[in-house]
Amino acid sequence: MKSHPFRLGCLITLGLLTLASLASAAATAPVKIGFLVKQPEEPWFQLEWKFADQAAKELGFTVIKIGATDGEKVLSAIDNLAANGAQGFVICTPDTRLGAGIAAKAKSAGLKLISVDDQFLGANGQPMAAIHHLGISAGKIGADVGTTLFAEMKKRNWTAADTAVCAVTFEELATAKERTDGAIGALTAAGFAKDHIFKAPQRTSDIPGAFDAVNILLTQKPTVKHWLVCGMNDSAVLGAVRALESRGFAADSSVGVGINGTDCIVELEKAKPTSFYGSMLLSPKRHGSETVTMMYHWIKDGQEPALDSRTTGILITRENFRQVLKEQGIRE
Ligand code: GLA
Repeated sequence: MKSHPFRLGCLITLGLLTLASLASAAATAPVKIGFLVKQPEEPWFQLEWKFADQAAKELGFTVIKIGATDGEKVLSAIDNLAANGAQGFVICTPDTRLGAGIAAKAKSAGLKLISVDDQFLGANGQPMAAIHHLGISAGKIGADVGTTLFAEMKKRNWTAADTAVCAVTFEELATAKERTDGAIGALTAAGFAKDHIFKAPQRTSDIPGAFDAVNILLTQKPTVKHWLVCGMNDSAVLGAVRALESRGFAADSSVGVGINGTDCIVELEKAKPTSFYGSMLLSPKRHGSETVTMMYHWIKDGQEPALDSRTTGILITRENFRQVLKEQGIRE
């Protein structure tokens, strides 16, 4: 049977209308953005989530927060995000070597991707420069830790012969290695003897991992009188400080400087000073809100974010932490 030209016309118009309404539904679909973090128990990541939520509230989109502590959880989270109508996600991966797999999975699920904190590594072990990333200026921040430690040693009149450095390392993570390398570099540049610098490699990047690593080092070096401590973040230095305390070291015989500034607040609030002297405060606000805001504009307006952004740190100590945390919107 031949179709009547009028009927055919109607069908075509109807089809076009349906297509147009589908397209406009996509453009006006609510924006949903996943935010996956490797260690949801760390205050640092909880604050990233908090600031991501704040940005979402201001701009009118939804953040889906997921603790993704291993590779399997990351992959199933990406499936769930796609099924729930998300258009993209921000991730601090539990393992940077999963980078290529995560990028491929995001692509096949049609999700945009930004990495935060820990940059993906490709199959060749090099950073995946084509994946949009926001991280810290790790080497510079580490160097500031080293400079601070050296100044504190001088202030206390500790002699070079009696003093050693304990660098709590986690070298499988590039940003962590850059931080401790930066600290060691600044200390040696200031004249600290290389043969008084010892690494305590963490098996896990948390307080117990640092505690165990430093315990081993302290057993090996029983004659050191004063310790200067650096590490990849506050948890690394806190674990070291606890291990030092268990050997009788306190604020008058050891000094540690962390990185993050968000995971040491309880420590700085203690009435009696501990060996944890201070921390390089990073910006969970920028990491949390800027990443989701970049993602939002990418999804909504097709505005592609910068490929690589780096943030800086500022030293907080018992003297100024309340004021600085307030200024940074971290504490009331
Ligand atoms: C890594 C660390 C976190 C924090 C961020 C900052 O992911 O594990 O504790 O220092 O970097 O970018």
